[in-house]
Amino acid sequence: MRCSRSPRIHSMAPTPELLLAVQLAALLLPFPRWASADPDDEACLSNLRRSLTDPSNSLRNWSRAAFAAPCDGFTSHLEGVTCNNGRVYKLTLAGLALGGAVSPFVSNCTNLQWLDLSSNQLGGGIPPEISALLNLAVLNLSVNRLTGPIPPELALCFYLNVVDLHSNQLSGDIPDGLGLLVRLSAFDVSYNHLEGPIPPSLANRTGTLPRFNASSFAGNKGLYGYPLPPAKGRGISVIAIVGIGLGSGLISLVLSFTIVCVWLRLRKQPSVDGE
Ligand SMILES: *[C@@H]1O[C@H](CO)[C@@H](O)[C@H](O)[C@H]1NC(C)=O
Ligand SMILES: *[C@@H]1O[C@H](CO)[C@@H](O)[C@H](O)[C@H]1NC(C)=O
Ligand SMILES: *[C@@H]1O[C@H](CO)[C@@H](O)[C@H](O)[C@H]1NC(C)=O
Ligand SMILES: *[C@@H]1O[C@H](CO)[C@@H](O)[C@H](O)[C@H]1NC(C)=O
Ligand SMILES: *[C@@H]1O[C@H](CO)[C@@H](O)[C@H](O)[C@H]1NC(C)=O
Repeated sequence: MRCSRSPRIHSMAPTPELLLAVQLAALLLPFPRWASADPDDEACLSNLRRSLTDPSNSLRNWSRAAFAAPCDGFTSHLEGVTCNNGRVYKLTLAGLALGGAVSPFVSNCTNLQWLDLSSNQLGGGIPPEISALLNLAVLNLSVNRLTGPIPPELALCFYLNVVDLHSNQLSGDIPDGLGLLVRLSAFDVSYNHLEGPIPPSLANRTGTLPRFNASSFAGNKGLYGYPLPPAKGRGISVIAIVGIGLGSGLISLVLSFTIVCVWLRLRKQPSVDGE
């Protein structure tokens, strides 16, 4: 907008009044003239701020005024915000004790390539709207309290390199489509409540090594299949249940037998004494 406007100003004969007006406007603007005022980034940041709680006041300069112009070209004054050419391209709010939820409006930061909200206390679900972030390369939501499914729509983020969702309370299956993300180089869903088979597209690759190691899937009681043991976990638990059943049956049998014996003896004792 600015680029198209300034040549027009120059093409006019600049009267002193006009120059004064321009200078005044520049002074009155809260941010330098090159600051971006992107309405999508503004919606993204203001809604994200609203959805978060910030008990340690880490986001103290996330003010409404700042949302209107979060970027000065390549720099930002907002904690955790990195800009590229006037647009928010990186959000890194890791380990700030943030609570609340991940706002679906984070999808309004349409140039976002890096979203790291790891090591906080975020609850709620992973908004499927994140899939609108077509440039997203890094998604790190690990070590939070996120619940619900891994949105299958994440498979639409073609440029995803890193998906780290470990140590949350996510449930359901691992969506098959994630295996189609050809750039994925780090994938970690360990220590959640996931279940079902590990998609072969995430587990296998040509050669002898798995595409992602067992450690990427560990700590999910219901997950099975290569590189984890093949549905063996279930067999063990069935055997365990049968074992516990048989064991407790045996114990109660022995107990009741003993009680009956003791009772019979006690009943017999007085009659012996009485004779
Ligand atoms: C906003 O906070 C960050 C981190 O606390 C700090 O680096 C930055 O200078 C602050 N910006 C302003 C304008 O206060
Ligand atoms: C911003 O995000 C919300 C929630 O995902 C969506 O409904 C809305 O259409 C988005 N706005 C723009 C301009 O993309
Ligand atoms: C994600 O964030 C966690 C915690 O901040 C960090 O330990 C981990 O290395 C990150 N994951 C990746 C793949 O960079
Ligand atoms: C994946 O690899 C494992 C171990 O090499 C193998 O047992 C399994 O059949 C393979 N699955 C597919 C779908 O290729
Ligand atoms: C899997 O583990 C092996 C051996 O520990 C390691 O060399 C390899 O880089 C790991 N692969 C991934 C994707 O983490």
